[in-house]
Amino acid sequence: METTPALKAQHHLTSHDNLTTLQSHILAEEAKYPNSTGTLSWILSAMSFSAKMIASKIRRARLNDVLGSLDSDNVQGERQQKLDVIANETLLRCLGSRAGVAIVASEENEEPIMLRTETEGDRKYVVLFDPLDGSANLDACGAVGTIFSVLRHDRRVMPVERSVLQPGVRQVAAGYILYGSSVVFVLTTGTGVDMFVLDPSIGAFLEVEENLRIPTKSKNYSMNEGNRKSFPTGYQNYLDWAQSNGYSSRYAGAMVADVHRILLKGGVFLYPPTAKAPKGKLRLMYEANPMSMIIEQAGGKSFADKQRILEIQPEDLHQRTSVIMGSPDEVDHVLAQL
Ligand code: AHG
Ligand code: MN
Ligand code: MN
Repeated sequence: METTPALKAQHHLTSHDNLTTLQSHILAEEAKYPNSTGTLSWILSAMSFSAKMIASKIRRARLNDVLGSLDSDNVQGERQQKLDVIANETLLRCLGSRAGVAIVASEENEEPIMLRTETEGDRKYVVLFDPLDGSANLDACGAVGTIFSVLRHDRRVMPVERSVLQPGVRQVAAGYILYGSSVVFVLTTGTGVDMFVLDPSIGAFLEVEENLRIPTKSKNYSMNEGNRKSFPTGYQNYLDWAQSNGYSSRYAGAMVADVHRILLKGGVFLYPPTAKAPKGKLRLMYEANPMSMIIEQAGGKSFADKQRILEIQPEDLHQRTSVIMGSPDEVDHVLAQL
């Protein structure tokens, strides 16, 4: 039978002939490792489940009257949004039931939570997350995200909770979920980056891009320029250089949204040291590390001043870092000024 032009065009629009869900992708990855216990797969599937629950709560936030802030601050002294707490509880409940999770640590909890750190049983993991990134955007219906990082639980480390303090190079998986005009799940398990979009009508994440590569260069930077006057000189010089060379500025104010745009379109995301946050504002363990793993796995670069973020030895769960991440050539343009 001859294919009509309309059918051909339709076919052309479907980039994937084989439909793959996040769930089947995770199982296929697991099957590549014959000794795999499936533990990591369970954790990733809990992340997918949490993402769907959080997405649906965000969508109904105004209707259910859960926008705005609480009267409480988190460990960082930042005002908690109601949805920060709801997203955090959702993740804790979804991950808490998975046997392979030894410790969870969250932006919203001062101390790591020990779930199963006893020595018996199979290999166990540490899961760190920022339950709701950019939550201040919520009242204005802006994009927000969830970021997570998975490490192997190191049983030799004492006291037990110090097992979370591993450098980013040791992450076995990292990902983020962007709750934007659609819900996007971006995942790496150390062999490239894959992207999935939630089909709300069937409640599944479908693969839309395999082995995503970041553009090598693109004349875009993303930073809060309101802080310009207190940036170290090198960053101010970079801005002068970029503005004299036809760069565009884009800033959503949610790291997940800003880095996602850069992953797809290229450019550089920066959060330099400022007078208010001399060590940078973003958190190493559950913001900078997972996003750096994704960017590097997609062919990009990620630095804190001149140090590769993934090599920083953490001292504290909530420690902060400055960030320069994105297209390799664009990161180099910033580093050249420092
Ligand atoms: P969170 O909402 O998890 O505290 O994170 C907010 C972070 C990050 O998402 C964003 O890149 C940055 O704060 C924005 O900071 P400014 O408002 O200082 O630009
Ligand atoms: Mn955040
Ligand atoms: Mn947050």
